[in-house]
Amino acid sequence: MDEELRLLPNAALPDGAPTPELTDTQHLDIYGLGALRAAVVIETKNDKHVVKSVWMSSQDPSLARQLVSVIKDRYLSPDKGLLFHASASQPALREELKGSTIRSQIMSKTVDADVKFPDNISYRDMTADEARDYFQDFEEMFVKLMLTYKTAVENDEDVKQRGHAMVRSIAPNGVETPGQRFIIVEEAGVTLATLWIGERGEKQSFCYNIEVLPEKRRQGYGRKTLLVWEHAAASMRASTLGLTVFGTNEAGLRLYNGGGFEADDTTFTFSWAE
Ligand SMILES: CC(C)(COP(=O)(O)OP(=O)(O)OC[C@H]1O[C@@H](n2cnc3c(N)ncnc32)[C@H](O)[C@@H]1OP(=O)(O)O)[C@@H](O)C(=O)NCCC(=O)NCCS
Repeated sequence: MDEELRLLPNAALPDGAPTPELTDTQHLDIYGLGALRAAVVIETKNDKHVVKSVWMSSQDPSLARQLVSVIKDRYLSPDKGLLFHASASQPALREELKGSTIRSQIMSKTVDADVKFPDNISYRDMTADEARDYFQDFEEMFVKLMLTYKTAVENDEDVKQRGHAMVRSIAPNGVETPGQRFIIVEEAGVTLATLWIGERGEKQSFCYNIEVLPEKRRQGYGRKTLLVWEHAAASMRASTLGLTVFGTNEAGLRLYNGGGFEADDTTFTFSWAE
């Protein structure tokens, strides 16, 4: 029979585990399975627990299996859902969580500085008026989207406020925020797609929104818009492209997986009803 994973209260941080910087709402759990160790940072919110990070001393399938099971037993309840971040550095954990509901993924790709720009396609920055309208529409759309992803115990007003705060944390001065670009992609002067990209750190171009006009979808323009982004990012000397995609966005996931993006961090979601 398998050994059992145990919570080790007051245990020291295991050798090799990164020292976490905990906020007031976070704590660290240390688990042991024989000589194996796991260090887990948990954040407690009103409506959910969030597993922010997991470190395992070995990518051991049994450790990953028992860890997921014990965390669900400890932290999932009728009034608190559970979100579980699994980074690419934890393959055994990701394997264990495979098949669970994906809420979102952070994905990235290395910029090819010699990317071939698609034929017949051009792009330009939006005018100030275009960018303002675009930003306002985006913010409304984003808040609505947040409401569709809220858990049963979350309050609509809180979710709306959080949605607005998230958009404003990226662009505190709206379209005037330095480092943000709002782009229109065209073919022979006809608009195909819009793109909002921004600098993240010194080296990353992050895409906050990519949208092909509804009547132009499924004709390969999404793929071409990714090339436009890569071209713009290369000209801004970014070395990686980054984005977040919701787990239910099949079109987005196909687009990015086919475009060479890989998941750096996947957030899985569990609710009591499951
Ligand atoms: C996601 C989006 C940009 C894709 O644009 P598009 O022009 O339709 O994409 P493409 O025609 O280049 O297709 C790219 C891939 O996605 C797949 N795809 C496109 N729409 C799809 C859909 N509705 N369902 C499943 N797959 C889809 C295509 O088959 C293709 O996959 P393949 O290369 O493996 O055959 C577009 O659907 C969109 O604007 N959606 C709304 C905004 C959005 O969700 N943006 C992403 C935010 S992260």
